[in-house]
Amino acid sequence: MAAASEDHGFRDRGPGDRGPSDRGSRDHGLHGDHGFRDRSEGLTPDALAELQLDRLRATLRRAYDRVPFYREAFDKAGLRPDDCRSLADLARFPFTTKADLRDNYPFGMFTVPRSEVRRLHASSGTTGAPTVVGYTERDLDTWAEVVARSIRAAGGRPGQLVHIAYGYGLFTGGLGAHYGAERLGCTVVPASGGMTDRQVRLIQDFRPEVIMVTPSYMLTLLDEMERQGIDPRATSLRTGIFGAEPWTEAMRREIEERLDIDAVDIYGLSEVMGPGVAQEFAETKDGLHIWEDHFLPEVIDPFTGEVLPDGQPGELVFTSLTKEAMPVIRYRTRDLTRLLPGTARPAFRRMEKVTGRSDDMIILRGVNLYPTQIEEILLRTPALAPHFQLRLTREGRMDALTVRVEARPGAGTAERGAAAASVVRAVKEGAGVSVRVEVVDPQTLERSMGKLKRIVDLRGRDNTPPVG
Ligand code: DLL
Repeated sequence: MAAASEDHGFRDRGPGDRGPSDRGSRDHGLHGDHGFRDRSEGLTPDALAELQLDRLRATLRRAYDRVPFYREAFDKAGLRPDDCRSLADLARFPFTTKADLRDNYPFGMFTVPRSEVRRLHASSGTTGAPTVVGYTERDLDTWAEVVARSIRAAGGRPGQLVHIAYGYGLFTGGLGAHYGAERLGCTVVPASGGMTDRQVRLIQDFRPEVIMVTPSYMLTLLDEMERQGIDPRATSLRTGIFGAEPWTEAMRREIEERLDIDAVDIYGLSEVMGPGVAQEFAETKDGLHIWEDHFLPEVIDPFTGEVLPDGQPGELVFTSLTKEAMPVIRYRTRDLTRLLPGTARPAFRRMEKVTGRSDDMIILRGVNLYPTQIEEILLRTPALAPHFQLRLTREGRMDALTVRVEARPGAGTAERGAAAASVVRAVKEGAGVSVRVEVVDPQTLERSMGKLKRIVDLRGRDNTPPVG
């Protein structure tokens, strides 16, 4: 009971606040662009830093007071929440990992009684228990706000129609995008993932300006449009907001050209919130501005845990600044990027497009390789389609990688052979390691229906090809 009436330490939330009293003042987009008010606009770097420190201290106190895991972790490090007197002091606090969330499955990381958690999401997790995340009403409100900001930064405007093909359900993509688009004052089509032919029909009939979908499922939709004899460049779509998986500049060009849209990147993770932690602006397309009034980023050396200066690549770590139900302190995302100064929104730093997850790193004969490196190379090769799989096998004691990629329709045997050879050469030159390339017929690889799994790990299976 007590918790229900308490101030959770976030009452004075300053410019990012959207308290209940603000709701009535929304004009639902009737005045064009001004329907949704982004309270972080005009925030100066100094005002932001002050706001962040207040919120950080409140978050540390809240976590310490209410979550046994954090209390133990801080105690073990000999720290109290009040030891954080500057933003730099955060580096003294311990990290939180996915394993910590799993160990506290399902509700051990919550700071409020379960009855005050208004929604749960969970990430599937390939092994062991899934990771559960919870949101209070106010968390849902904050989330809608940051996603609304994101859609606006991407070029979406109140009154536009937004087709959402991120999966709805326990995955945060669908519902996260949904409430943000509604908050901005858009008309939302909650298409979810799958039933690709119907998606294309809906796009033709409803004429959305904006689509929100994983880049790999966008490719599936593009193929389906072409199969139905529809010219993708002639659809009503103007803006694509793509995320939930790594994608490259080469993929941006591919999608923008085929669809005649602006393709921008949206980033997020369920542990921190969901989509809308960071967003690329359509006007600059230069990486993703992090909504730093709610999410405080650090980049660390993944091996030593040391905080790296802005500009240096490493592992992204987030501390939530306003989350009530499940604050996270120094959560290790495993995503690799670097922090850069803001451009379109100077008060907020940008993160470079995520090049990969440390989990997706392939170590091939001692060389580190990311799927995005292969994607860049394949998309530079005209005879090859953007559909590919990375198949890992073990040959003797060595790992081997086969890039299985589809030919573009019409590419003949000689062209395919030359393309394969040029990819082998480019990977060897770029990454310093040999791979095999198999060019297969168009439409033979499995299509993505959401988040794509690029790597097929066949090591340790019976079907490992014989050595030699
Ligand atoms: O994927 C949230 C989301 C939904 C983001 C829709 C964007 C759009 P999770 O399922 O928890 O949440 O997966 C989070 O996906 O740590 C990254 O590895 C990866 N990821 C998300 N966005 C991007 C992106 C959602 N824009 C994990 N670029 C993250 C690269 C991304 N990787």
